[in-house]
This record gives sequence, C-alpha cells and structure tokens, in this order.
Amino acid sequence: MVAKIIYDENLKMFHLSNDKISYIMHVDHHNVLTHIYMGGKVRNLSTLGIYPKFNRDFEVNPEEVGLDYRQFSLGILPLEYSGNNSGDFREPSLIIRDQEGSTVNDFRYIDHEIFDGVSQIDGLPSSYVEAQDEAKTLRLYLFDEALQHELVLNYTVFNNQPVIARSAKLINKSDQKSVIYKIASASVDVEPGDYDLLQLNGSWARERMVEREAIHTGIKKLDSKRGSSSHHQNPFIAILDKHTTEFRGKAVGYQLVYSGSHEMTVEKDPYQNLRVQLGIQSTGFEWNLSPEESFQTPEVLIAFSNQGINGLSQSYHDFIKQHIIPRKYAEFERPVLINNWEATYFDFTEEKVFDLVDKANELGIELFVLDDGWFGKRDDDFSSLGDWFEYHEKIPNGLKNIADYVHDKGMKFGLWFEPEMISEESELYKNHPDWVLHDVNKRASRGRSQYVLDMGRQEVRENIYTQMIEILDSIDIDYVKWDMNRNISETYSAALEDNKSGEANHRYILGLYDLLDRITSRYDNILFESCSGGGGRFDLGMLQYMPQVWTSDNTDPIARLKIQYGTSMIAPINTMGAHVSASPNHQTGRTTSIDFRAAVAYAGVYGYELDITSLNEDELASIAQQVRFYKENRALIQTGTFTRLMSPFEGNQVAWSIHNDNKMLLFYFEVLNEASKPLHKIKPMYLDPDVKYLVKYEGSEFEAYGDELMNLGIYIYPQLKNDFSARIFEITAI
Ligand code: GLA
Repeated sequence: MVAKIIYDENLKMFHLSNDKISYIMHVDHHNVLTHIYMGGKVRNLSTLGIYPKFNRDFEVNPEEVGLDYRQFSLGILPLEYSGNNSGDFREPSLIIRDQEGSTVNDFRYIDHEIFDGVSQIDGLPSSYVEAQDEAKTLRLYLFDEALQHELVLNYTVFNNQPVIARSAKLINKSDQKSVIYKIASASVDVEPGDYDLLQLNGSWARERMVEREAIHTGIKKLDSKRGSSSHHQNPFIAILDKHTTEFRGKAVGYQLVYSGSHEMTVEKDPYQNLRVQLGIQSTGFEWNLSPEESFQTPEVLIAFSNQGINGLSQSYHDFIKQHIIPRKYAEFERPVLINNWEATYFDFTEEKVFDLVDKANELGIELFVLDDGWFGKRDDDFSSLGDWFEYHEKIPNGLKNIADYVHDKGMKFGLWFEPEMISEESELYKNHPDWVLHDVNKRASRGRSQYVLDMGRQEVRENIYTQMIEILDSIDIDYVKWDMNRNISETYSAALEDNKSGEANHRYILGLYDLLDRITSRYDNILFESCSGGGGRFDLGMLQYMPQVWTSDNTDPIARLKIQYGTSMIAPINTMGAHVSASPNHQTGRTTSIDFRAAVAYAGVYGYELDITSLNEDELASIAQQVRFYKENRALIQTGTFTRLMSPFEGNQVAWSIHNDNKMLLFYFEVLNEASKPLHKIKPMYLDPDVKYLVKYEGSEFEAYGDELMNLGIYIYPQLKNDFSARIFEITAI
C-alpha cells in the first residue's frame, strides 16, 4: 500500500502509515508534541496511546499549566523531540546557548505541512525517491518563543517499506548569534518494557561484531569520536523485545545516514521509559548559528520488524537498494575483480601487472584494480599521499598503457585513491603544509604516518578534485576505490573564524560529501567502491555515493563469517566487497582451502586479492570454476534475498541463504571439525511449500517439495570431514 499521512484536526494527531507500519504523534496540551506509537500498522488514529495526565512528585509543571495543576509534566510525557533544561530531566535532544548564556530550550508545535516525496536535505546524503509518489513527508514546525528559533522535524513514510526517515533542522530567527552544543537527528520515547539492545562494534580487521545485551536503568552511549563512522562502532542500533529472535518478535532498527563522528544514546529512566537518540557526536561539537542561519542534521532511518532481526535486516536491504544507493545499482551486476594489493602490495612492476592481468583474463575475471602505489613516489606508506600524478619511474609506459592493456583483453580497469590524506613527504605538503587538519599551535598526531587534509576548505577540495579529474579524464577508468586510512585527531580547522574545533569535524564531512558528489556525478560510468582500512566507513552516507564498500581488510574466511554476518544486519550483500585471498591468510595466518575461501566470499561482491601467477594448476582450475559459478549465480546473489540461518556468534555451525522466486543458494559452514559429532541438519526458509525443487550439492542431487525441505530439513551427510569446511546446496524450482 502506498504511503499515507493523516492529520486529524479534532484529535490533533498525525498518523503516517503504509501497509506495514504506523507512526503516530499527538499535539498535547500547550502544544507539546508527544510520541504515541511506532510499530506494526494500526487501522485507526487510535487515542489509546495518548498519555494520561497524572502527578508524579518531583517532576515539575510548565508555568502555563497554572499554579494548582500538577498533572502535566514534560518529564513524564513521551516526547517527540525533547528540549533542554525546561523540566524534562532525561537526555535533551538539543542544547542551544543564547547570547545571555541561557540553555533553556523548549520547542512547541506551531504548524505543519504534508507533501509528496522526500524532504530535500542540502549537503548531506539522505534517502531519495525517483518519483514523487513513492513517499510522503510530514514537516512539523516547532518554535521556541524565548529563543526565537524554529525547529523543523521531517518525517518521511515510503510506499511498502517499514521505514520512517527522520531529520531535524534548526533555524535562528532571532537577531542574535546562538551556539548549538548538541542536536540529535531523532529522539524516540519508546513505551516502558523489557528490551535488549543490539549493536555492532569492533576494530580494524574485526568490524561489526554483533553484541546483544539487556537494557538496564541508566544511560548507555555508543559512539565514534574518530571523525568517521568507524570500524569501532557502526552507526546502527536495534531495540529488541526481550524474546525477539532472528525470525520472530519485534525489532526496531535505527540507522544514521552519516559518515562522521556520531552518538547513539539509550536511556532507561526509573519508570522504565526508554529514550533512544541518534545524531552527530555532541562531545566537542559547538556550532555557531548566526541570525537567519540554519543547521541541518543527518537523517535517521527507523525500521520496524515483527519478524525478528532477520526481518529487520531484509527491510533495510530492500530500502537501501531502492532509496539509498543510486537505483541503477540495485540491479546492476558488479564485475568479478582482481585487486593487486595482497598480491604485490607496493612492490609491483608493469610486467607483474601484465602477468596478473593475463592470468585473470584466462580465469574469467572481469576487472583489474591497481591498488595503492601508482602515484607520486609511493613505494611504501610513508610518502606521496596528495600527489595524484603518475609515478613514472615505477610505471614507465604510463597508466594509460596499463588501462589499454586491460581493455584490450576485454576487461575493465580500476584505480585506487586516498583523496582525503596527505603525507609529509609529498609535493602537496611542501606547497600547503597549512592544509593539514590540526591545531597549528600544538603537536599533530600521525596515523599510518600520514595527516588528514582539511576537507572543510574549498581550496583544498578544489586542488584534490583538479588532480583527480586530470587522471580520470585522460585515462579510461571503469572503477575507483576511494580509501581513507586513518582516524582524525586534533580536530581544528585554521580556516574557521572562531570555533575552530567545534565545527571542524562536521565541516570536514560536509566537504567530503561535496567532493564525492562532484566526482561521482561527473563520472556516471565509473563504479565507485568506498573503503576505509576495509570497513571503517561502512555507513549509509558513503553508500549514497558509492554503491559498494570493501567490507574489511581481514580476508580470512573464518573471520569473514562474523564480519559479513554482522554487516548483513545493516546493508544488502551487493554492497559488501568479498575477496578470496592467499592462504595462509595475511591477517590471521590461518590456512584454509581455496574452495572454503570462495564459499564464504560468494555472499558479496566477489573478487580475488592474491598472486594468481604463483598458484598451481589445481588452484587455478578451482578459481576458473569459482568464477563460472559466481557469474552463473550473480544475478541471484546480487539481487536476491539474503537470510541469516545460523550465527557464527553462537556456535560452530554457520549458515545463510540467498534466494529469488526460482532458486536458492544455501550455504552451510562448519568452523572446526569434531569427532563423533551429531549428524547435523539444515532447514532452509522461504521456499514455496507447493513447489518441487531439484537440490544439487557436490555431485549429488535429489528432488523434494518446499514443505519437505523446510520442515524435514537436509542432513549434512556425508558429514564434513575437516576444519573450515563448507557445503553449498543449489535448490532450483522444477
Ligand atoms: C587500506 C585498504 C586496503 C589497501 C590499502 C592500501 O588498508 O583497506 O585494501 O587498499 O589501504 O594502502
């Protein structure tokens, strides 16, 4: 059903809905905007959810309710967006300081509008529609009389998606400057209950580990202060009912469309009310707002599932394909690639590159990516970032010659950049040492021996843009890998007038988005892959510009089971780069078979990242067969429905499947082998019970109906005999 927004004048209630969800708000006494409901669809604009008025001692009552009325307190109402220092003692959604030094902030509803389509968010990535009738937006206007600031809250509901997109914008309508210390994208007061929190934390080479915990009384803040969305805490959380499982029960997901420092706060008050907030990191944030200026927050996507965590992920997958990544990439088949990084690191020659290309071509690989080391004088990670011109001593016949060689083979050519960085040993640093983002009066930390460019500055972006387009205009390039290999410290922009630190990180991100927008829209034909030391910026902001991400620098298949499983919580697998690399693995030292490595990597945008010129005939034959298998199943893998079946965080067995209407690929993995182990079974889901299927695996085949397969399951027989083993079932409708 199409998206609908109703405003009931008598009840003063708003109802956003489609066939999957409802989101209800109420303008309560004194124009306080309260939250009534977010969840499965309800037919009526039910008044059931309106909060009763009653007295709680030691809560306070707004002045306008009068001296003898104690039944109305901001502090106990479920609010839509909380003020600060005005009688609600829970976490504020914003903190604004006026010229007199006051931080009393209290916004009340004044007006609204409803329109087709989404709310345009200037300068920030956000969910989009291609036709206006794909979504409806409610824009609520709130005002703080004393402060003379307007707060605009945007809510978009989409056709057939259980997702609400929210964002906020603050406008200074006074004649004085104010300062924003905090401004959340969204705040949701959830009804009292016993909930669990699901989060994705990690580190470099160990991104997006799934952690679930009970929510206790108090405040829990999950965040990144790293200047990027980070390996360490993905900007996503879900609030689960206590008994929610992978397939059953209620789950509400919150995902920020933002690539910078962020914070996610969950507060459970002593009355068991829950407040969930997401937004830009408030620690260190300080934004000047002059008269008539406005500040726009990033967007949050709130998704609802009554089919467990898996249902939540599948909704996000579908939504991201339709409304976040450029829509042409929802169906676009991504080429099988080979990247030279783990094959050669910095140490490549033209000859070596040609050997790799020749071999890759023989194996059916479609795209060759030349990674780090082709520019400046880059032979290691100590120099040349910022010098985006060819390294002639290393590539004497030029990049164009390599690109032509690759194209002559009928393959595509890709190139690596790290546009946001600068090495001390570079032409760029010699000419513009002041372009480094750091406190000019203090020491600057290095990360991977490099500095960060101040992307908030127009002239810095212009320089990098000019250098990049010189390469991209003169050489036929089909793919770009955009990397970012350190986190940001000493945030301080010499170019800002005052507030040099408080605004610098967000201005960096706005600058980055501006540069990304210019580059990606200029080269419509180039497939962009985002990377930050692997998956350090795997967020929906980056995905808007670049439809795939290098999921992790860790290519060990056992580690990848967890990383890819965790990443599938937030994004579809056609956004996840997954490569077969060398064994023993360069990150973990683990030895695994080439078939096992491929079996794990199939669930993603597939490729290779090892020296294929040094493999034996058997391994090469395996690769040729793997590439054939992936290509045959590519449309299914990249556009089908991904389902998590058995979790690597819970045990030794892991399983997932990918299906469309005609076919399913069912992947089963065992991490370690055991003696005298149980005879395991696997039960696929989402088959059609009435359809007969042909099931094929390892040279065997049988036929069965969907109901048999789903209810009785398939024995893992013959049993798997080794550590790190996999079985893939191809289940095709007859
Ligand atoms: C990062 C990336 C790698 C590779 C190197 C090159 O670590 O994640 O894939 O591109 O940089 O320096």
